[in-house]
Amino acid sequence: MKVVMIGAGYVGLTTGACLAELGHSVTCVDTDAARIKALAAGATPIYEPGLDDLIRKNRDGGRLDFSADTKGPASRADAIFLAVGTPAGANGDIDLSYIEAAARQIAPVMKPNTVVVVKSTVVVGTCRRLREVIAEKRLGLDFSVASNPEFLREGSAIEDFLHPDRIVIGADDRRAAALLEELYAPLTRRQTPVLVTNTANAELIKYASNAFLALKIGFINDVADLCEQVGGEIEAVARGMGLDRRIGTSFLSPGPGFGGSCFPKDTRAFVATGRKHRARQSLVETLVAKNETRKSSLARRVVAELGDRARGARVAVLGLAFKANTDDVRESPALSIIPLLQQAGLSVRAHDPQAEANAARHLSGVEMHDCLYAAAQDADAVVILTEWEDYRALDLKRLAKAMSGSLLIDYRNLFTAQKIALHGLRYVSLGKSASPKAAGAVVSKASKRPELATAAPNHL
Ligand code: NAI
Repeated sequence: MKVVMIGAGYVGLTTGACLAELGHSVTCVDTDAARIKALAAGATPIYEPGLDDLIRKNRDGGRLDFSADTKGPASRADAIFLAVGTPAGANGDIDLSYIEAAARQIAPVMKPNTVVVVKSTVVVGTCRRLREVIAEKRLGLDFSVASNPEFLREGSAIEDFLHPDRIVIGADDRRAAALLEELYAPLTRRQTPVLVTNTANAELIKYASNAFLALKIGFINDVADLCEQVGGEIEAVARGMGLDRRIGTSFLSPGPGFGGSCFPKDTRAFVATGRKHRARQSLVETLVAKNETRKSSLARRVVAELGDRARGARVAVLGLAFKANTDDVRESPALSIIPLLQQAGLSVRAHDPQAEANAARHLSGVEMHDCLYAAAQDADAVVILTEWEDYRALDLKRLAKAMSGSLLIDYRNLFTAQKIALHGLRYVSLGKSASPKAAGAVVSKASKRPELATAAPNHL
Protein backbone atom coordinates (compact mmCIF):
# COMPACT_ATOMS: atom_id res chain seq x y z
CA MET A 1 0.00 0.00 0.00
CA LYS A 2 1.23 3.54 -0.76
CA VAL A 3 1.36 5.58 2.41
CA VAL A 4 2.29 9.22 2.97
CA MET A 5 3.19 10.32 6.47
CA ILE A 6 2.71 14.07 6.97
CA GLY A 7 4.99 15.12 9.85
CA ALA A 8 8.32 13.38 10.40
CA GLY A 9 8.59 13.93 14.16
CA TYR A 10 8.72 11.36 16.97
CA VAL A 11 5.45 9.72 15.94
CA GLY A 12 5.59 10.24 12.16
CA LEU A 13 9.12 8.94 11.75
CA THR A 14 8.59 5.90 13.93
CA THR A 15 5.23 5.09 12.38
CA GLY A 16 6.60 5.64 8.86
CA ALA A 17 9.62 3.40 9.43
CA CYS A 18 7.49 0.70 11.08
CA LEU A 19 4.84 0.73 8.33
CA ALA A 20 7.68 0.33 5.81
CA GLU A 21 8.94 -2.58 7.92
CA LEU A 22 5.48 -4.14 7.58
CA GLY A 23 5.98 -4.03 3.80
CA HIS A 24 4.23 -0.79 2.78
CA SER A 25 5.74 1.87 0.58
CA VAL A 26 6.08 4.99 2.75
CA THR A 27 7.06 8.61 2.06
CA CYS A 28 7.61 10.79 5.13
CA VAL A 29 6.95 14.46 4.45
CA ASP A 30 7.85 17.42 6.65
CA THR A 31 7.70 21.18 6.22
CA ASP A 32 11.01 21.39 8.09
CA ALA A 33 13.31 21.24 5.06
CA ALA A 34 16.45 20.85 7.20
CA ARG A 35 14.93 17.78 8.83
CA ILE A 36 14.14 16.19 5.46
CA LYS A 37 17.59 17.03 4.14
CA ALA A 38 19.18 15.37 7.17
CA LEU A 39 16.98 12.29 6.79
CA ALA A 40 17.75 12.03 3.09
CA ALA A 41 21.45 12.21 3.96
CA GLY A 42 21.09 9.31 6.39
CA ALA A 43 20.91 11.23 9.70
CA THR A 44 18.07 10.65 12.19
CA PRO A 45 17.04 13.96 13.76
CA ILE A 46 15.68 12.46 17.00
CA TYR A 47 17.05 9.97 19.48
CA GLU A 48 14.92 6.84 19.63
CA PRO A 49 16.53 3.45 20.27
CA GLY A 50 16.64 1.31 17.10
CA LEU A 51 15.18 3.97 14.81
CA ASP A 52 18.42 4.65 12.92
CA ASP A 53 18.76 1.02 11.89
CA LEU A 54 15.10 0.62 11.00
CA ILE A 55 15.16 3.72 8.78
CA ARG A 56 18.39 2.65 7.08
CA LYS A 57 17.13 -0.88 6.45
CA ASN A 58 13.84 0.24 4.91
CA ARG A 59 15.36 3.11 2.93
CA ASP A 60 17.96 0.74 1.48
CA GLY A 61 15.15 -1.73 0.76
CA GLY A 62 13.34 0.95 -1.27
CA ARG A 63 10.24 1.05 0.95
CA LEU A 64 10.93 4.35 2.76
CA ASP A 65 11.82 7.79 1.46
CA PHE A 66 11.60 11.41 2.52
CA SER A 67 10.29 14.53 0.86
CA ALA A 68 9.86 18.21 1.61
CA ASP A 69 7.14 18.33 -1.05
CA THR A 70 3.69 17.32 0.14
CA LYS A 71 1.72 17.52 -3.07
CA GLY A 72 3.53 14.96 -5.26
CA PRO A 73 3.52 12.08 -2.76
CA ALA A 74 0.00 12.94 -1.49
CA SER A 75 -1.41 12.79 -5.03
CA ARG A 76 -0.32 9.15 -5.38
CA ALA A 77 -1.19 7.85 -1.88
CA ASP A 78 -3.81 5.30 -0.87
CA ALA A 79 -3.53 6.47 2.75
CA ILE A 80 -2.33 9.85 4.00
CA PHE A 81 -1.41 9.84 7.66
CA LEU A 82 -1.46 13.14 9.56
CA ALA A 83 1.17 12.98 12.31
CA VAL A 84 1.83 16.68 12.81
CA GLY A 85 2.03 18.35 16.20
CA THR A 86 -1.12 19.27 18.09
CA PRO A 87 0.46 21.47 20.75
CA ALA A 88 -1.24 23.10 23.71
CA GLY A 89 -3.37 26.05 22.69
CA ALA A 90 -5.24 28.63 24.76
CA ASN A 91 -7.23 27.67 27.90
CA GLY A 92 -6.01 24.08 27.97
CA ASP A 93 -7.37 23.35 24.50
CA ILE A 94 -5.11 22.06 21.73
CA ASP A 95 -3.92 24.01 18.73
CA LEU A 96 -5.40 22.36 15.64
CA SER A 97 -3.88 24.86 13.22
CA TYR A 98 -1.06 22.51 12.06
CA ILE A 99 -3.36 19.60 11.36
CA GLU A 100 -5.92 21.81 9.61
CA ALA A 101 -3.12 23.33 7.52
CA ALA A 102 -1.93 19.84 6.57
CA ALA A 103 -5.49 18.87 5.56
CA ARG A 104 -5.71 22.00 3.36
CA GLN A 105 -2.36 21.12 1.73
CA ILE A 106 -3.39 17.61 0.73
CA ALA A 107 -6.99 18.43 -0.28
CA PRO A 108 -6.29 19.79 -3.78
CA VAL A 109 -4.22 16.77 -4.85
CA MET A 110 -5.89 13.77 -3.19
CA LYS A 111 -7.08 11.10 -5.60
CA PRO A 112 -10.60 9.63 -5.21
CA ASN A 113 -11.02 6.99 -2.44
CA THR A 114 -8.00 8.22 -0.46
CA VAL A 115 -8.22 7.57 3.27
CA VAL A 116 -6.85 10.36 5.47
CA VAL A 117 -5.73 8.84 8.75
CA VAL A 118 -5.41 11.07 11.80
CA LYS A 119 -2.47 9.78 13.86
CA SER A 120 -1.99 12.97 15.85
CA THR A 121 -3.79 13.18 19.18
CA VAL A 122 -6.87 15.29 18.58
CA VAL A 123 -9.95 16.23 20.59
CA VAL A 124 -13.24 14.53 19.87
CA GLY A 125 -14.88 15.86 16.74
CA THR A 126 -11.63 16.72 14.93
CA CYS A 127 -11.93 13.98 12.28
CA ARG A 128 -15.36 15.31 11.37
CA ARG A 129 -13.98 18.83 11.27
CA LEU A 130 -11.09 17.75 8.98
CA ARG A 131 -13.62 16.09 6.67
CA GLU A 132 -15.30 19.47 6.28
CA VAL A 133 -11.97 21.26 5.73
CA ILE A 134 -11.08 18.89 2.87
CA ALA A 135 -14.60 18.75 1.41
CA GLU A 136 -14.74 22.56 1.21
CA LYS A 137 -11.67 22.49 -1.04
CA ARG A 138 -12.68 19.43 -3.08
CA LEU A 139 -16.41 19.53 -3.69
CA GLY A 140 -17.66 16.11 -4.80
CA LEU A 141 -14.46 14.17 -4.02
CA ASP A 142 -15.10 10.73 -2.52
CA PHE A 143 -12.68 10.22 0.40
CA SER A 144 -12.62 9.11 4.05
CA VAL A 145 -11.18 10.47 7.26
CA ALA A 146 -10.24 7.91 9.91
CA SER A 147 -8.79 8.06 13.40
CA ASN A 148 -5.91 5.79 14.37
CA PRO A 149 -4.56 7.07 17.68
CA GLU A 150 -1.00 6.24 18.63
CA PHE A 151 -0.11 4.73 22.00
CA LEU A 152 3.67 4.32 21.58
CA ARG A 153 6.03 5.51 24.29
CA GLU A 154 9.13 7.46 23.38
CA GLY A 155 12.16 5.37 24.31
CA SER A 156 10.47 2.11 23.32
CA ALA A 157 8.51 3.40 20.34
CA ILE A 158 9.49 0.72 17.83
CA GLU A 159 8.80 -2.16 20.17
CA ASP A 160 5.47 -0.54 21.10
CA PHE A 161 4.48 -0.05 17.47
CA LEU A 162 5.41 -3.55 16.35
CA HIS A 163 3.99 -5.26 19.46
CA PRO A 164 1.09 -3.08 20.57
CA ASP A 165 -1.43 -4.01 23.26
CA ARG A 166 -4.15 -3.05 20.80
CA ILE A 167 -4.81 -1.20 17.57
CA VAL A 168 -7.67 1.26 17.60
CA ILE A 169 -9.32 2.02 14.28
CA GLY A 170 -11.88 4.81 14.23
CA ALA A 171 -13.77 4.76 10.95
CA ASP A 172 -17.11 6.21 9.97
CA ASP A 173 -17.34 4.17 6.76
CA ARG A 174 -16.38 0.68 5.60
CA ARG A 175 -13.70 1.88 3.15
CA ALA A 176 -11.62 3.48 5.93
CA ALA A 177 -12.02 0.49 8.26
CA ALA A 178 -11.06 -1.97 5.50
CA LEU A 179 -7.97 0.03 4.50
CA LEU A 180 -6.66 0.23 8.06
CA GLU A 181 -7.39 -3.43 8.72
CA GLU A 182 -5.39 -4.33 5.64
CA LEU A 183 -2.59 -1.93 6.55
CA TYR A 184 -2.18 -3.50 10.00
CA ALA A 185 -2.84 -7.09 8.87
CA PRO A 186 0.80 -8.15 9.49
CA LEU A 187 0.32 -7.17 13.15
CA THR A 188 -3.22 -8.40 13.67
CA ARG A 189 -2.26 -11.79 12.23
CA ARG A 190 0.06 -12.00 15.26
CA GLN A 191 -2.97 -11.87 17.58
CA THR A 192 -2.82 -8.13 18.33
CA PRO A 193 -6.37 -7.17 19.33
CA VAL A 194 -7.95 -4.61 17.05
CA LEU A 195 -10.87 -2.43 17.98
CA VAL A 196 -12.88 -1.02 15.10
CA THR A 197 -15.18 1.76 16.19
CA ASN A 198 -16.24 5.21 14.99
CA THR A 199 -13.94 8.24 14.86
CA ALA A 200 -15.43 9.95 17.92
CA ASN A 201 -14.89 6.86 20.10
CA ALA A 202 -11.32 6.44 18.83
CA GLU A 203 -10.53 10.08 19.64
CA LEU A 204 -12.01 9.65 23.12
CA ILE A 205 -10.12 6.37 23.73
CA LYS A 206 -6.79 8.15 23.27
CA TYR A 207 -7.58 10.94 25.74
CA ALA A 208 -9.30 8.73 28.29
CA SER A 209 -6.33 6.30 28.20
CA ASN A 210 -3.75 9.01 28.71
CA ALA A 211 -5.79 10.68 31.44
CA PHE A 212 -6.15 7.34 33.23
CA LEU A 213 -2.42 6.56 33.04
CA ALA A 214 -1.60 10.04 34.29
CA LEU A 215 -4.05 9.52 37.16
CA LYS A 216 -2.12 6.37 38.15
CA ILE A 217 1.09 8.40 38.31
CA GLY A 218 -0.57 11.22 40.25
CA PHE A 219 -2.12 8.73 42.63
CA ILE A 220 1.13 6.91 43.41
CA ASN A 221 2.85 10.26 43.97
CA ASP A 222 0.17 11.11 46.55
CA VAL A 223 0.59 7.70 48.19
CA ALA A 224 4.38 8.28 48.27
CA ASP A 225 3.81 11.57 50.11
CA LEU A 226 1.65 9.72 52.62
CA CYS A 227 4.29 6.99 53.06
CA GLU A 228 6.85 9.62 54.00
CA GLN A 229 4.57 11.01 56.71
CA VAL A 230 3.57 7.68 58.26
CA GLY A 231 6.75 5.61 57.90
CA GLY A 232 5.57 3.60 54.90
CA GLU A 233 7.68 2.47 51.98
CA ILE A 234 6.31 3.22 48.55
CA GLU A 235 8.06 0.32 46.75
CA ALA A 236 6.42 -2.23 49.02
CA VAL A 237 3.06 -0.50 48.85
CA ALA A 238 3.17 -0.17 45.03
CA ARG A 239 4.30 -3.77 44.63
CA GLY A 240 1.49 -5.01 46.83
CA MET A 241 -1.02 -2.97 44.85
CA GLY A 242 0.36 -3.82 41.42
CA LEU A 243 0.22 -7.57 41.91
CA ASP A 244 -3.54 -7.21 41.80
CA ARG A 245 -4.19 -7.76 38.09
CA ARG A 246 -7.02 -5.26 38.18
CA ILE A 247 -4.44 -2.59 39.08
CA GLY A 248 -1.24 -3.78 37.34
CA THR A 249 2.35 -2.80 38.07
CA SER A 250 2.91 -0.15 35.39
CA PHE A 251 2.87 3.55 36.20
CA LEU A 252 3.19 2.93 39.92
CA SER A 253 6.61 4.48 40.52
CA PRO A 254 6.73 7.85 42.23
CA GLY A 255 8.61 10.64 40.48
CA PRO A 256 8.89 14.37 39.98
CA GLY A 257 5.53 14.65 38.19
CA PHE A 258 4.67 13.60 34.65
CA GLY A 259 6.02 15.53 31.70
CA GLY A 260 6.59 14.97 28.01
CA SER A 261 4.73 15.95 24.89
CA CYS A 262 1.60 13.97 25.74
CA PHE A 263 0.36 13.65 29.31
CA PRO A 264 0.48 17.32 30.33
CA LYS A 265 -1.22 18.65 27.21
CA ASP A 266 -3.57 15.68 26.84
CA THR A 267 -4.84 15.91 30.42
CA ARG A 268 -5.38 19.66 30.04
CA ALA A 269 -7.23 19.11 26.77
CA PHE A 270 -9.37 16.38 28.36
CA VAL A 271 -10.35 18.81 31.11
CA ALA A 272 -11.08 21.55 28.56
CA THR A 273 -13.25 19.16 26.49
CA GLY A 274 -15.18 18.15 29.61
CA ARG A 275 -15.83 21.79 30.50
CA LYS A 276 -16.88 22.67 26.98
CA HIS A 277 -19.41 19.84 26.87
CA ARG A 278 -20.57 20.30 30.47
CA ALA A 279 -19.24 16.94 31.65
CA ARG A 280 -16.61 18.22 34.03
CA GLN A 281 -13.59 15.92 34.46
CA SER A 282 -12.88 17.00 38.01
CA LEU A 283 -10.55 14.10 38.89
CA VAL A 284 -8.27 14.97 36.00
CA GLU A 285 -8.64 18.68 36.75
CA THR A 286 -7.27 18.10 40.24
CA LEU A 287 -4.51 15.90 38.82
CA VAL A 288 -3.38 18.64 36.42
CA ALA A 289 -3.12 21.17 39.25
CA LYS A 290 -1.32 18.75 41.59
CA ASN A 291 1.18 17.76 38.93
CA GLU A 292 2.20 21.41 38.58
CA THR A 293 2.56 21.99 42.32
CA ARG A 294 4.55 18.78 42.68
CA LYS A 295 7.43 20.24 40.70
CA SER A 296 7.59 23.36 42.87
CA SER A 297 7.28 21.40 46.08
CA LEU A 298 10.12 19.08 45.02
CA ALA A 299 12.26 22.11 44.15
CA ARG A 300 11.53 23.57 47.61
CA ARG A 301 12.52 20.26 49.13
CA VAL A 302 16.00 20.45 47.57
CA VAL A 303 16.45 23.87 49.16
CA ALA A 304 15.10 22.66 52.51
CA GLU A 305 17.40 19.62 52.54
CA LEU A 306 20.41 21.87 51.92
CA GLY A 307 19.34 24.01 54.90
CA ASP A 308 21.88 26.68 55.82
CA ARG A 309 24.06 25.69 52.87
CA ALA A 310 21.34 26.44 50.31
CA ARG A 311 22.19 29.99 49.21
CA GLY A 312 24.98 29.80 46.67
CA ALA A 313 25.05 26.00 46.85
CA ARG A 314 26.21 24.08 43.79
CA VAL A 315 23.71 21.50 42.63
CA ALA A 316 24.28 18.89 39.94
CA VAL A 317 21.07 17.84 38.21
CA LEU A 318 21.24 14.42 36.57
CA GLY A 319 18.57 14.02 33.93
CA LEU A 320 16.94 16.65 31.71
CA ALA A 321 14.79 14.48 29.44
CA PHE A 322 11.22 13.95 30.67
CA LYS A 323 11.96 10.22 30.86
CA ALA A 324 14.81 7.86 30.08
CA ASN A 325 15.81 6.79 26.56
CA THR A 326 14.69 9.95 24.80
CA ASP A 327 16.13 13.37 24.04
CA ASP A 328 12.67 14.93 24.37
CA VAL A 329 12.47 17.69 26.99
CA ARG A 330 8.95 18.91 26.26
CA GLU A 331 7.34 19.75 29.63
CA SER A 332 10.14 17.88 31.35
CA PRO A 333 10.09 18.31 35.16
CA ALA A 334 13.75 19.43 34.91
CA LEU A 335 12.71 22.51 32.95
CA SER A 336 10.45 23.60 35.81
CA ILE A 337 12.60 22.50 38.74
CA ILE A 338 15.94 23.95 37.57
CA PRO A 339 14.75 27.59 37.22
CA LEU A 340 13.12 27.34 40.67
CA LEU A 341 16.44 26.18 42.14
CA GLN A 342 18.19 29.09 40.43
CA GLN A 343 15.60 31.54 41.77
CA ALA A 344 16.36 30.21 45.27
CA GLY A 345 20.01 31.19 44.75
CA LEU A 346 21.45 27.79 43.85
CA SER A 347 23.94 27.39 41.03
CA VAL A 348 23.01 24.50 38.72
CA ARG A 349 25.10 22.23 36.52
CA ALA A 350 23.45 19.45 34.58
CA HIS A 351 24.04 16.23 32.71
CA ASP A 352 21.87 14.13 30.44
CA PRO A 353 23.00 11.31 28.13
CA GLN A 354 20.90 12.62 25.20
CA ALA A 355 18.89 15.73 26.03
CA GLU A 356 21.49 18.42 26.84
CA ALA A 357 21.22 20.25 23.52
CA ASN A 358 17.42 20.31 23.59
CA ALA A 359 17.33 21.40 27.24
CA ALA A 360 19.92 24.14 26.70
CA ARG A 361 17.43 25.92 24.43
CA HIS A 362 15.04 26.36 27.38
CA LEU A 363 17.43 27.00 30.25
CA SER A 364 19.84 29.80 30.99
CA GLY A 365 22.79 29.94 33.34
CA VAL A 366 23.09 26.14 33.54
CA GLU A 367 26.53 24.61 33.02
CA MET A 368 26.11 21.46 30.89
CA HIS A 369 28.58 18.59 31.35
CA ASP A 370 29.00 15.60 29.07
CA CYS A 371 30.45 13.65 31.99
CA LEU A 372 28.15 13.21 34.97
CA TYR A 373 31.06 13.06 37.42
CA ALA A 374 32.32 16.40 36.08
CA ALA A 375 28.83 17.80 36.72
CA ALA A 376 29.03 16.50 40.29
CA GLN A 377 32.55 17.90 40.90
CA ASP A 378 32.48 20.02 44.09
CA ALA A 379 28.69 19.87 44.19
CA ASP A 380 26.92 20.32 47.50
CA ALA A 381 24.06 18.16 46.27
CA VAL A 382 23.22 15.86 43.37
CA VAL A 383 19.58 15.66 42.26
CA ILE A 384 18.43 12.80 40.00
CA LEU A 385 15.42 13.72 37.84
CA THR A 386 15.43 11.12 35.04
CA GLU A 387 15.60 7.33 35.39
CA TRP A 388 18.44 6.71 32.88
CA GLU A 389 20.23 3.36 33.24
CA ASP A 390 23.50 5.34 33.35
CA TYR A 391 22.37 6.80 36.67
CA ARG A 392 21.17 3.49 38.07
CA ALA A 393 24.65 2.16 37.28
CA LEU A 394 26.60 5.13 38.54
CA ASP A 395 29.81 4.64 40.48
CA LEU A 396 28.74 5.92 43.89
CA LYS A 397 32.29 5.88 45.24
CA ARG A 398 33.44 8.11 42.41
CA LEU A 399 30.41 10.35 42.82
CA ALA A 400 30.95 10.77 46.56
CA LYS A 401 34.62 11.57 45.95
CA ALA A 402 33.78 14.22 43.36
CA MET A 403 31.20 16.01 45.51
CA SER A 404 32.09 18.53 48.18
CA GLY A 405 28.78 17.94 50.00
CA SER A 406 27.07 14.66 50.76
CA LEU A 407 23.44 15.10 49.74
CA LEU A 408 22.02 12.80 47.07
CA ILE A 409 18.40 13.54 46.23
CA ASP A 410 16.91 10.80 44.11
CA TYR A 411 13.50 11.74 42.70
CA ARG A 412 13.39 8.48 40.72
CA ASN A 413 14.12 6.07 43.57
CA LEU A 414 16.97 4.35 41.74
CA PHE A 415 18.83 3.29 44.89
CA THR A 416 18.34 2.03 48.39
CA ALA A 417 19.24 4.03 51.45
CA GLN A 418 21.74 1.41 52.69
CA LYS A 419 23.60 1.33 49.39
CA ILE A 420 23.99 5.09 49.49
CA ALA A 421 24.93 5.11 53.18
CA LEU A 422 27.89 2.80 52.40
CA HIS A 423 29.44 5.69 50.51
CA GLY A 424 28.90 8.24 53.24
CA LEU A 425 26.19 10.09 51.33
CA ARG A 426 22.92 11.34 52.76
CA TYR A 427 20.04 9.94 50.72
CA VAL A 428 16.69 11.57 50.10
CA SER A 429 14.20 9.69 47.97
CA LEU A 430 10.44 9.59 47.49
CA GLY A 431 7.89 7.78 49.61
CA LYS A 432 10.30 6.04 51.91
CA SER A 433 10.99 6.03 55.58
CA ALA A 434 14.04 8.13 56.40
CA SER A 435 15.41 5.19 58.39
CA PRO A 436 17.77 2.94 56.35
CA LYS A 437 16.97 0.08 58.75
CA ALA A 438 13.33 0.02 57.76
CA ALA A 439 14.16 0.24 54.05
CA GLY A 440 16.57 -2.68 54.47
CA ALA A 441 13.85 -4.90 55.84
CA VAL A 442 11.90 -4.59 52.60
CA VAL A 443 14.86 -5.08 50.30
CA SER A 444 16.14 -8.22 51.99
CA LYS A 445 12.67 -9.74 52.01
CA ALA A 446 11.95 -8.81 48.44
CA SER A 447 15.31 -10.06 47.17
CA LYS A 448 14.30 -13.62 48.03
CA ARG A 449 11.50 -13.27 45.50
CA PRO A 450 13.14 -11.43 42.59
CA GLU A 451 9.95 -11.48 40.55
CA LEU A 452 8.34 -9.33 43.23
CA ALA A 453 11.37 -7.12 43.72
CA THR A 454 11.26 -5.44 40.34
CA ALA A 455 9.93 -1.92 40.61
CA ALA A 456 7.76 -0.95 37.66
CA PRO A 457 9.32 1.92 35.73
CA ASN A 458 7.21 4.95 34.98
CA HIS A 459 6.71 4.85 31.24
CA LEU A 460 5.58 8.39 30.77
P1 NAI B 1 6.78 16.45 16.63
O1 NAI B 1 6.72 17.89 16.98
O2 NAI B 1 7.97 15.65 17.02
O3 NAI B 1 6.59 16.28 15.05
C1 NAI B 1 5.66 16.95 14.30
C2 NAI B 1 6.30 17.22 12.94
O4 NAI B 1 5.28 17.69 12.06
C3 NAI B 1 7.37 18.30 12.95
O5 NAI B 1 8.58 17.78 12.42
C4 NAI B 1 6.80 19.42 12.06
O6 NAI B 1 7.78 20.11 11.31
C5 NAI B 1 5.86 18.63 11.17
N1 NAI B 1 4.80 19.39 10.53
C6 NAI B 1 3.98 20.32 11.07
N2 NAI B 1 3.11 20.77 10.14
C7 NAI B 1 3.38 20.09 9.00
C8 NAI B 1 2.80 20.08 7.69
N3 NAI B 1 1.77 20.85 7.37
N4 NAI B 1 3.33 19.26 6.76
C9 NAI B 1 4.37 18.46 7.05
N5 NAI B 1 4.96 18.42 8.28
C10 NAI B 1 4.46 19.22 9.23
O7 NAI B 1 5.45 15.82 17.23
P2 NAI B 1 5.23 14.31 17.77
O8 NAI B 1 5.76 14.15 19.13
O9 NAI B 1 5.63 13.37 16.70
O10 NAI B 1 3.63 14.30 17.92
C11 NAI B 1 2.79 14.28 16.79
C12 NAI B 1 1.39 13.98 17.28
O11 NAI B 1 1.35 12.67 17.85
C13 NAI B 1 0.86 14.92 18.35
O12 NAI B 1 -0.51 15.08 18.16
C14 NAI B 1 1.12 14.16 19.62
O13 NAI B 1 0.23 14.54 20.65
C15 NAI B 1 0.83 12.74 19.18
N6 NAI B 1 1.50 11.69 19.96
C16 NAI B 1 2.80 11.84 20.36
C17 NAI B 1 3.43 10.83 21.06
C18 NAI B 1 4.85 10.98 21.51
O14 NAI B 1 5.29 10.16 22.30
N7 NAI B 1 5.60 11.98 21.05
C19 NAI B 1 2.74 9.56 21.38
C20 NAI B 1 1.40 9.49 20.87
C21 NAI B 1 0.81 10.53 20.20
